[in-house]
Amino acid sequence: MPIPQTFEALRTHQTAEGQVQSRLETLRLDDLSAGEVVVRTRYAGVNYKDCLSLHGRAKIIASYPRVAGIELVGEVLASSVASFEPGQAVLVHGFQTGIAFDGGFSACVRVPAAHVQAVPQGLTPHEAAVIGVPGFTAAMALERFIELGIAPGTGSVAMSGAGGAVGLLGTAILARAGYRVAAITRRMAQEERLRAIGAHEVIDAAVLDAAQRPLEKPRFAAAIDNVGGPMLSWLLRSMADGGAVASVGNAAGNSYEGSVLPFIMRRAQLFGIVANAPVEQRKRLWTKLAVEWKPDMAAVLPHVQHIALGALMEHSARQLDGASSGRVLVDFSR
Ligand SMILES: NC(=O)c1ccc[n+]([C@@H]2O[C@H](COP(=O)([O-])OP(=O)(O)OC[C@H]3O[C@@H](n4cnc5c(N)ncnc54)[C@H](OP(=O)(O)O)[C@@H]3O)[C@@H](O)[C@H]2O)c1
Repeated sequence: MPIPQTFEALRTHQTAEGQVQSRLETLRLDDLSAGEVVVRTRYAGVNYKDCLSLHGRAKIIASYPRVAGIELVGEVLASSVASFEPGQAVLVHGFQTGIAFDGGFSACVRVPAAHVQAVPQGLTPHEAAVIGVPGFTAAMALERFIELGIAPGTGSVAMSGAGGAVGLLGTAILARAGYRVAAITRRMAQEERLRAIGAHEVIDAAVLDAAQRPLEKPRFAAAIDNVGGPMLSWLLRSMADGGAVASVGNAAGNSYEGSVLPFIMRRAQLFGIVANAPVEQRKRLWTKLAVEWKPDMAAVLPHVQHIALGALMEHSARQLDGASSGRVLVDFSR
């Protein structure tokens, strides 16, 4: 397929007064940041971080104008390096994509070859897009749990913000890897859905409204926390001996109040995840996600929403209000 002369993109600008505005535009290749590989975007995952960028709700974009979108899956149209060839299915995430380089919310992108990865064998381009950054993030936490000796039989793994994209993919991936997942959500109406993707237990996030104790009942061997704030504190206080918490997100804010008791009484560990992993780790984890950790797609797909690029501003406003659920992909065939 030839490189289109013009194509549609959602580009984010900053006015002289500092206002951030994102609008649909018709661009040419030379309007985009440079890169050796030209990719026709098929799907761009919509992450919480992208929603913040599009609406200027946090200083994420490094310089304007910029096409946001921290991840994409597509097909190579042209490459000036031998490692990629036209027609090849590739994925791109991290490496400042959508931040310092133009990202996925464009029907065509130019990407530095070092940022491009072949879609691994065992995944279709669509499956790779469904897993995307949320699934990769969960896989990074899972790899660390295993390194810490937290095997499937050790106990439940809590997943907070379970109704979101990391929650959906994380629950499905942990279940596939043999773990017992305790999904925590503010929306108990999602209970059946969370059980269908592999949660053994669904906990109402209203547990935080009950009287809080210095140490709660030790109920989890590990946790992936998407929320921060009081949820992160509660998870730490609910760890069994030697339990580990992966701090992944800040859906409820950047700060939390902590007690040292989980650390000095139960040997709890707290570690952070940044999905922008080194190349070797990307290759290793995507290979696992394509086979032994591949989520049950039949269970996950009903919770994947496909939207057109033109619907992204409206959708992202709702996601910032916590009103979105599951995984959302911009589908460029729409
Ligand atoms: N560290 C990394 O590299 C990395 C990578 C990916 C994502 N993240 C971060 O991880 C978090 C989750 O990402 P995502 O893509 O899954 O986002 P998402 O799809 O928007 O989901 C976030 C979920 O958190 C819960 N939530 C939202 N607002 C909340 C609030 N005010 N208080 C409590 N719970 C709230 C909701 O779940 P319920 O309705 O079920 O309660 C919501 O579905 C975000 O903070 C994101 O920035 C970080």
